[in-house]
Amino acid sequence: MQLVAKTLFGLEEILQKELENLGAQNIKAGNRVVTFEGDKELMYRCNLWLRTAIAVLTPIAEFRFRDEKDLYRQYSKLDFSKYLTLDKTFAVKGAVHSKLFNYTQFPMLVLKDAIADQFRDKYNERPSVDTERPQVVFDVYISENNCVVSLNSSGAPLFQRGYRRNTGEAPLNEVVAAGLLYLSGWDAKSNFIDVFCGSGTLPIEAALMANGIPSNIARKGYAFQNWADYDEVLWNKIYDEAPKVPKRNLGFRIIGSDIDGDVILKARENIKTLPLGKTIEFEVKDFNDVVVPEGGGTLISNPPYGERLAEYEIGDLYQNIGNYFKRNLAGYTCWIMSSNFDALKRIELKPSKKIQLFNGSLDCDFRRFDIFKGSLVEHKYGAPMQPREPKRYKKKEE
Ligand SMILES: C[S@@+](CC[C@H](N)C(=O)[O-])C[C@H]1O[C@@H](n2cnc3c(N)ncnc32)[C@H](O)[C@@H]1O
Repeated sequence: MQLVAKTLFGLEEILQKELENLGAQNIKAGNRVVTFEGDKELMYRCNLWLRTAIAVLTPIAEFRFRDEKDLYRQYSKLDFSKYLTLDKTFAVKGAVHSKLFNYTQFPMLVLKDAIADQFRDKYNERPSVDTERPQVVFDVYISENNCVVSLNSSGAPLFQRGYRRNTGEAPLNEVVAAGLLYLSGWDAKSNFIDVFCGSGTLPIEAALMANGIPSNIARKGYAFQNWADYDEVLWNKIYDEAPKVPKRNLGFRIIGSDIDGDVILKARENIKTLPLGKTIEFEVKDFNDVVVPEGGGTLISNPPYGERLAEYEIGDLYQNIGNYFKRNLAGYTCWIMSSNFDALKRIELKPSKKIQLFNGSLDCDFRRFDIFKGSLVEHKYGAPMQPREPKRYKKKEE
């Protein structure tokens, strides 16, 4: 059957690789989606294993329509009783890119009405809508006059992994975190550090990868479990086969640190729901004081951007990050994700790679800085840089 995995801007190729590894066929990456073919077993596996997908869909109809009325007519031709029964709740989600609609939620409301009307006509009753925890989720994708209606096999988005009970103020989306780890080229066999780890999203996703445990191992439930054709035996087999025990000795370290003791407490609470044992070392520390293990590795952090956590002298913070890299991170590949492009320049190291990504609606750069062993780091304008002592950040005057 035809399947579609939705993702975020910039993660399409990564998701394509994940799908190749799961044995998907005819894989094609598009804009925030990857289409592929596979059977029910693959669909179940994708929901459990894909780290960079938001949802896995199965298209049920594709058609062209002239206007709003025609859209309703086309929707009404579908037999919704194949996918939904009166005792199940449902929701309609989707994305609309069409000049035909001023209000982009409208095509989703029209589908909701078409479903309700069809049930009322047939059974004198209609299933209830539940936008919070729907049992059956329909997805609408409209591009100009073309409409694809799909069933969303995931239900709640796949970044809702089930392990995050507590967060800091600006937590990273779990799918973005997994995407950053893959994009960085971290091999999951060497040291991984995040010195602004907040509630721990990056170290947690890293530890799951390093132990070969699916990111969704702690998630409770998927929409496909409410479908009429749900194969519980097959799902249990797939779930039971997945590794759930951490490796005894990874042979390298995964460290998450943050200056805020409360968020580190939250991070420690979060990992309790996961089979990660002592894989992650969480520390309460100013990043300037974090001592990284010898032998090199990868550092990925998303420091404050100055948007949501406005109390810092943000430029000074980024200058300190650059100095910290030069002083302490020889042999490491360091990556910073930020939407604050002015502050990023204050790192004063020439990035060897820049990748455009979004953190929610914020346009961000994910920049790589290679810190070489035994040599002074070159300033971006050519002059060698002497590592400087940290300039502690100042809180802004109230
Ligand atoms: C954007 S948040 C990181 C969110 C994190 N990636 C997550 O998923 O929860 C930035 C974090 O930087 C921390 N921070 C700010 N200044 C710091 C400093 N000087 N040293 C270490 N951490 C700092 C904040 O406490 C905050 O948790």
